[in-house]
Amino acid sequence: MGESTDDVTAIWTQATEHAVRFRHDIDTGLQRPSQTYGEALATFDEPTPEIGCGGSDVVEGLVRLAEPGLHAMTGRRFFGWVIGSSHDVGVAADWLTSAWGQNAGNHSAAPAASAAEAVSARWLLDILRLPDDASIGLVTGCTMANFVCLAAARGEVLRRVGWDVERNGLFGAPPIRVILGEDAHSTVFSALQYLGLGQDRVTRVPTDSNGAILADAFAAAIADAQSDEVVIAIAQAGQINTGAFDPFPAIVASSRTHRNCWLHIDGAFGLWARACPDRSSLAEGLEGADSWATDGHKWLQTPYDCGYAIVRDPDAHRRAMTIAASYLPSVSDGERDPSHYVPELSRRARGFSTWAMLKHLGRTGIADMVERHCRLARTIAEAVAGEPGIAVMNDVVLNQVAVRFGVNETSERGDQLTLQTIAAVQDEGVLFAGGAKWKGVWVMRLSVIGFGTQEEDARLSAEAIIQAWRRVRHSTVTIA
Ligand SMILES: Cc1ncc(COP(=O)(O)O)c(C=O)c1O
Repeated sequence: MGESTDDVTAIWTQATEHAVRFRHDIDTGLQRPSQTYGEALATFDEPTPEIGCGGSDVVEGLVRLAEPGLHAMTGRRFFGWVIGSSHDVGVAADWLTSAWGQNAGNHSAAPAASAAEAVSARWLLDILRLPDDASIGLVTGCTMANFVCLAAARGEVLRRVGWDVERNGLFGAPPIRVILGEDAHSTVFSALQYLGLGQDRVTRVPTDSNGAILADAFAAAIADAQSDEVVIAIAQAGQINTGAFDPFPAIVASSRTHRNCWLHIDGAFGLWARACPDRSSLAEGLEGADSWATDGHKWLQTPYDCGYAIVRDPDAHRRAMTIAASYLPSVSDGERDPSHYVPELSRRARGFSTWAMLKHLGRTGIADMVERHCRLARTIAEAVAGEPGIAVMNDVVLNQVAVRFGVNETSERGDQLTLQTIAAVQDEGVLFAGGAKWKGVWVMRLSVIGFGTQEEDARLSAEAIIQAWRRVRHSTVTIA
């Protein structure tokens, strides 16, 4: 069923009005969906459509079906997982991206999209203070960024010992020793799995109580590798539960003692500490690595999805990713094809929303935002830690806070009380925070990373957490 030009205006206006209303109401409503997944599935479930339906009805139907199952991820008191808030300006750029419908695989097909990407890449390197001749692939998120960087790593360390993995694969290849921290993010293991390097064939280096790699243990793991071995080491900027940073100067120095070691940094959100003078000391030294993975959809607040795979050696990056075909234009000197740095050929023009957010916030806007989020994380941590029975389990160096309830109880009882308090907080819906296991016990994890979060949100949230804990403690004491 086609739509006339007038209908397009009406449909897009209708969608915009719903979006504006949704955003307007977000901070006053429940900070959680009112439906479970099962309920959402039942709401959407209907037989395969046989006959098309008018665009306006489709938009209206989608809003009616989807809204009860939406999280307040764009709001000011959403602290679940590590999720940026899809900034208004980024969304506007993203809408235009969809409306323009560019397939941003190469610069001939999509000159403007490729140019926005190339310039955004240059700005990103400047703001993150990484080598200005590094290459960047714009991917779906940090999982894919880790994958792309580690693909470049795999190709290059094997090339140095005479093995062409891009042509010959891993059949008969020299083994690769992978070294990483005990508290590396799960998606690093996914990347190793996709690359045929295996999740379990890794050397895990012990970490401290905040999840940062122990420098001496890392040095020992590198020293343990034979000089003719092929090594990929992975360090982390911003541990998911604690925000901890690995000791980069020592890690870079140790990795450089091995003649064939590629050092990769997973910095999904922590890499942005480098853009904030107040926090940058945490991430000093990591510029000495070979590759870096980070997200746009976390601290840069671009809409989902957007991540950046950054590689010091652009040739290694391109060798790992390039798709060549006779019908595709070749790249002359100085021209950059987006698809040469990512797995996909046909792809979304993520450069537009990245360009828009960098342009809108600027270097100082990013620095101020990161500083504010980290300050508010400390505000929440200090407030809840003052309440008997609650403990903050991490050193709040960045924006992540791990909170444990029932700290004077047995481990099992503390787990129970923590899960009950998380459920009580979620049910009340003043804020949203989820749970995670940290060093063997359950914690409530808060990630302060939503663009709009302010002092009053931090205070309100801390108070709601304390009150929920008091209710849980009171009800369990009363029952007992
Ligand atoms: C340290 C770290 N690495 C990788 C990822 C995966 O990022 P994404 O979900 O954007 O793929 C995350 C997600 O939170 C993370 O915290």
